[in-house]
Amino acid sequence: MQILDRNLALEVVRVTEAAALAASRWIGRGDKNAADGAAVDAMRRAFDTLAISGTVVIGEGEMDEAPMLYIGERIGLGGPEVDIAVDPLEGTTITAKGGPNAIATLAIAERGGFLHAPDIYMEKLAVGPGLPEGVVSMDASPEQNLRELARAKKCEIGDLMVCTLDRDRHKEMIMACRAAGARITLLGDGDVSGVMAVSQPETGIDIYMGSGGAPEGVLAAAALRCIGGQMWGKLLYENEEQVTRAKSMGVTNPDRVYRVDEMAKGDVMFAATGVTSGAMLRGVRRHAGGAYTHSIAMRSRSGTVRYIEGHHNFALKPAAFIA
Ligand code: FBP
Repeated sequence: MQILDRNLALEVVRVTEAAALAASRWIGRGDKNAADGAAVDAMRRAFDTLAISGTVVIGEGEMDEAPMLYIGERIGLGGPEVDIAVDPLEGTTITAKGGPNAIATLAIAERGGFLHAPDIYMEKLAVGPGLPEGVVSMDASPEQNLRELARAKKCEIGDLMVCTLDRDRHKEMIMACRAAGARITLLGDGDVSGVMAVSQPETGIDIYMGSGGAPEGVLAAAALRCIGGQMWGKLLYENEEQVTRAKSMGVTNPDRVYRVDEMAKGDVMFAATGVTSGAMLRGVRRHAGGAYTHSIAMRSRSGTVRYIEGHHNFALKPAAFIA
């Protein structure tokens, strides 16, 4: 049975647009919490226009730490039972600094479709579509993965572009990639777009590796389920409390390496709107009385990827969508 109506894939863009428009007021103003708060608030209100009975499974935190879009919160006007993963502002620091690649994003799956990932780190590895299954592996070294990927792409390692977050914890991996001869794009923040880039040839990114937020990993997996590509994720624990938290959220084997279709399974939809401009989406452009937005909407069932350009006239728009 088709739980996720195809029109919903277009409807959800209103929700990411609302979050992006709200966050865009805070671009470059040095206050990441205000930017995030505005996005959360606008996204939460916009969800109330969707004909779904949604449960937030990847959200802003536990009920006692997040007033809105907390894990377990029920949202929507009523309709099919679905699970929701949100990141109203992916790239809070980017937004505060006016840097590139901040997005407002969400994904929807049938009940039970998403890995209930706690807010801890996840080791991530991703490559684009059209490659042999398992061409790279989390058990292999960066050098081995680059060698296998170059072989599969019939190119030199020096032709490959790696993408990762610019973090001290990635120092060794970055050195290993450079020593192998690969080129690297280092991101300040925003690994959902970083992972998605492997499936978009125009970005020039061939492989994503490195650790980042586990909730962002699930959102990236939802996106790859729709655009294609291979991805693996492994939860990383800093202490016993994190292991216990993961178990309480349903993780039975803490050491498991999840494939993309185990992090986001069944019918999945993904949408994102650019807050600041990046390789994939243009950011919000405001002008007197309105703004332009640029979004992506896609469904795993059809594999259709749509880019949507929105022109918003604030004089005619309900307050929930302007913030
Ligand atoms: P926020 O939007 O919550 O600031 O997250 C940005 C981000 O870069 C994510 O894309 C990434 O998964 C995570 O932070 C990495 O965490 P850290 O900054 O601790 O390395």
